[in-house]
Order: sequence, then C-alpha cells, then structure tokens
Amino acid sequence: MEKRLAIIGINKTFGQKETAVHALNDVSFSLSEQSFTAIVGKSGSGKTTLLNCIGGLETPTSGKVVIGGKDIYTMKDYDRTLYRRRHIGYVFQFFNLLSEMTVFENICVPAWIDNRQPDTDYIRSLIKFLGLEEKADKYPAQLSGGEQQRTAVARALALKPDIILADEPTGNLDKQNGKELINLLIHSHRFYKQSILLVTHDLEIARRAQRIITLEDGCIISDTENNEL
Ligand SMILES: Nc1ncnc2c1ncn2[C@@H]1O[C@H](COP(=O)(O)OP(=O)(O)OP(=O)(O)O)[C@@H](O)[C@H]1O
Ligand SMILES: [Mg+2]
Repeated sequence: MEKRLAIIGINKTFGQKETAVHALNDVSFSLSEQSFTAIVGKSGSGKTTLLNCIGGLETPTSGKVVIGGKDIYTMKDYDRTLYRRRHIGYVFQFFNLLSEMTVFENICVPAWIDNRQPDTDYIRSLIKFLGLEEKADKYPAQLSGGEQQRTAVARALALKPDIILADEPTGNLDKQNGKELINLLIHSHRFYKQSILLVTHDLEIARRAQRIITLEDGCIISDTENNEL
C-alpha cells in the first residue's frame, strides 16, 4: 500500500448555530513517506482535532483524508478501524492508558486487539530504550506523568506503524527526557521508514522536524521546510 497521506480541504465544526466552534477550516497538506513534520500553534488552534481526523478518530465535517489513494472516511467502519490499527501509531495528549493493565500489557494491547502475538522481544527493547524496565509490571496509577507518557509512546510504536501521530509527547517530560524521547521517535522513523506528525509547543523540538506547519484558529498560517537541519 502506498503510504503517502493527503489531507484535502478538511473542515471540522463542533456544535451548531450560535454555539458552533470551527476547529478546522479548509486544512490541506500532504505528507510524503518517511517524513518528519511538526505542528505548532496556540492552545485551541485545532492541533488535536487535526490529528484525530487524520487518525480516523474524528470524522471531519467535510474534506478528505486519503492514504494509498483511498479516502478513509468513505471506507466502511471496519476498514477504517483496520487502517487505524495497521498504519497509525497514536500517542494521545492524555495517554489513554488502560488502568487495569500493567505497562507491559498496555504496550501489548495494539497487537492483542489485532489478534496478533505481540513481538515481545521488540516490546522489551522499547521498554529498555524508554527507561521503563523497572516499571514494566506496574500499573499506570503507580507511574509518574512522564513514565505514563513514555508507556504511551511505546504502545504507539509497538506495531511499527507507517505513520506516528504524536500529540505533545514531551509535554510531561523534563528537557533531557523530552530530548531522548524525540531521539527515539527519530530513530524509529529512520529505521522503520515511518512518517511522524508531531504536535508540540516547544519550538526547540519543532526545529528537529524537516517541516513545520503552524495552525491558527483552525487554519494553516505557515508551512515551511526546516532549513536549519
Ligand atoms: N468535542 C468537542 N466539542 C466542542 N468543541 C471542541 C471539541 N473538541 C475540541 N473543541 C474545540 O475546538 C477547538 C480546537 O481544539 P483542539 O483540542 O483541537 O485544540 P489544540 O490546538 O489541540 O489545543 P491544546 O494545545 O490546548 O491541546 C477549541 O476551540 C476547542 O474548544
Ligand atoms: Mg491538543
């Protein structure tokens, strides 16, 4: 399957009439394979909504999300679910870990949902890389915010997705851990030829990306190649 992703004229409106919020207004761009793009913008500018639309979690009011020549929102629900499971690794802004499962089990969940055997060697290597070895058998409530965040990143990488959507993955980490986490994402993106779409408000992190897209009030106000790399 061709993995180039095209977002075409996406609008997303929440609510109706006088209470309507236009979270995304005619957003279009495409991601080439194995690219690393940062999305920046103020709180409320539409970053999470955009990631949710691309990740098949939030149906746009209009517009298309096209991968491999197919609009995911004209697919049957089941096919869209498969697209999400097999091609997207999503790091949620608020983690969404399962509280009754350990760190190790949380990272296995994407494979279990897809009726596959988790690649436990790979999962152990992710756990090691993310410095979670001593936490593998702990539950989310026993972890710090940063440890939960790293678990959420490991879960997103567990099935080696084509596209990683990461919503503020360094938001709960100190500078050093944030840097290391980005290094891991970049390593994964190069090694497994993945594309990353990363939301951040940290310009230092955005500058590690090849391309920086800025959202304001649901519109792309700039889309630039990063010449500093
Ligand atoms: N389910 C919803 N119902 C109503 N309005 C929503 C909903 N989700 C988001 N919004 C509104 O859409 C706009 C964009 O929200 P979004 O969460 O995408 O912003 P964001 O850029 O991710 O912000 P932050 O940096 O704070 O995470 C905001 O005005 C928000 O209040
Ligand atoms: Mg957000």
